[in-house]
Amino acid sequence: MASAGRGEWSGKAGFILAAAGSAIGLGNIWRFPYTAGENGGGAFVLVYLAFVLLIGVPVVLSELSIGRFSKLNPVGAFKKLAPGTNWKWLGGLGVLTGFGILAFYSVVAGWTLSYLWGAITGQVGGVTTAAESEAAFVSLIGGSFMPLVLTAIFMALTIFVVRGGVSEGIERATKILMPTLLVVLLIMAIRSMTLEGGMAGVSYLFSPDFSKLNVGVILAALGQALFSLSLGMGAMITYGSYFPDRENLPQAGIIVAIFDTGIAFLAGLIIFPALFSVGVEPNAGPGLVFIVLPSIFSQLPAGGLFAIAFYALLSIAALTSTISLLEVVVAYFVDEKQWNRKKAALWIGVACFVLAIPSALSQGAVDIFSTSFGLGISFLDLQSIVWGNYSLSIGALGLCIFVGWKWGIPAALASLESSGHALQGHALWSFLVKYVCPVAVFAILVYIMITQQYF
Ligand code: TRP
Repeated sequence: MASAGRGEWSGKAGFILAAAGSAIGLGNIWRFPYTAGENGGGAFVLVYLAFVLLIGVPVVLSELSIGRFSKLNPVGAFKKLAPGTNWKWLGGLGVLTGFGILAFYSVVAGWTLSYLWGAITGQVGGVTTAAESEAAFVSLIGGSFMPLVLTAIFMALTIFVVRGGVSEGIERATKILMPTLLVVLLIMAIRSMTLEGGMAGVSYLFSPDFSKLNVGVILAALGQALFSLSLGMGAMITYGSYFPDRENLPQAGIIVAIFDTGIAFLAGLIIFPALFSVGVEPNAGPGLVFIVLPSIFSQLPAGGLFAIAFYALLSIAALTSTISLLEVVVAYFVDEKQWNRKKAALWIGVACFVLAIPSALSQGAVDIFSTSFGLGISFLDLQSIVWGNYSLSIGALGLCIFVGWKWGIPAALASLESSGHALQGHALWSFLVKYVCPVAVFAILVYIMITQQYF
C-alpha cells in the first residue's frame, strides 16, 4: 500500500492544471472535430453536450471522490472500498483501457510531432490548397518508417515525464501550456470564422439536423464526452488521489469539465469554418484536422510562427494526456505490485509501443492492419472505438453503479466535501449517478447489440 511518498499536487491550481492537461488533448482538437464531421455535425454536438452535462460531470465527481478517499490507483481503490469483491476488475478494466488508449493515441501524437517539424522547417505554413495538404498527410501516415519512429519518440517523451513522478513532471508542463493554448486557439478561431464561406461551418456545427441521429451517433457522442474528459478508466481516480485534503474538490472538477468542453468547441470553430472555406468534406475521418489546418496558417499574418506555436502546443497538450494514461498503468504497478516507478514507466511504455505498431502501420503501410484483418476499418479506428467508445462507456456504467449502489452516495459525498466545501446541487448529482447515467449507458449498449451497428 502506498500513501506516504506518493506525492500530491501543490494545491488546487496545480490539480486543475494537471487534470485539465489530462483532459485537454488530441481528444478535443483531433477526435472531436472528425467525429462530429463523421456523425453529421450539429445533432452530434448537441448530444455530446448533453452527455457532458448529464454523464460527464457526475462521473468526474464520482471518480474524484473515489480517488481522494482511497488515495490509490483504480484497482487498489476498488479493493479498499469493496474488499473481497469483484469490483477490483472494474479497476483492472480501467488500467487495461489506459494501456489500449495510449497505444493508438501515441500514434496520432507522433503525427503532430511531424507537423511541428514541418512548421519549423516552413513546409506546413507554405501549403495552400487542401489537395496539397491531403497529399502530404497521406504520404506521411501511409509510410512504414516515419509513423513508427514518431510513435516511438512520443512514447519516449511520455516515459521520461512519468518517470519523474506526478507533481514535478506533470504540473510544470501544464502551467504555461494551458493559457497559451487558449490564446492561440482563440486567434485561430477568429481567423477561421472570418474566412470566406466560414460561417457555413459555424452553422454546420450548431444547427442540429435530427434526421442524422441513430444509435451509432449517440454512442459516438457518449464515447467522445467520456474520452475528452478522461473518464471511464480511472484517470480521474488516480489524479484525485493526489488531491490535497484541504482544497475544494467538486469545484475543481467542474472547472476542468468547463475548460475541456470549451476547448473542444473552440477547435470546432477553427476546423469547420476552415473546412467549408477550402472545400473539404466534413466526414474526411481521422485526417481531418491535419488536412484542413495548414490552409488556415497560410491565411494568417505571421502564419509560419502560428503554425509552430500551434503544433508545439498541440504536441504538449497531447503529452500531458499521454502522461495521464501511462500514469494510471504505472500507479497500478507501483501501488499494487510494488514495482519501482522508473522501471514501471519504462517497461509499460515499451510494451505499449509494441501494441501501437499495428495502429501506426494501419494507414496504408500494411493491408491487414488497414482493414483490421478484414473488419473493414483501420486498426487505429478500431482501437479508438473499442477503447474510446465501448470500454470507457462500460467503465463509466460500472463506476456509476459502484458509487450509486455499492459504496453509496453518502460516502462519496463525504469524500467530495471532506475539505468543508459543499457540492452545490448534490441531490441532482445523486439522481444522475444512481439512475440517469446507468440507465442511459446501459440502454445505448443494449441497443447497439440488438441493432448490431458496432462501428
Ligand atoms: N482526454 C484526453 C484527450 O482528450 C485523452 C485522455 C487522457 C484520456 N487520459 C485519458 C481519455 C483517460 C480517456 C481516459 O485528449
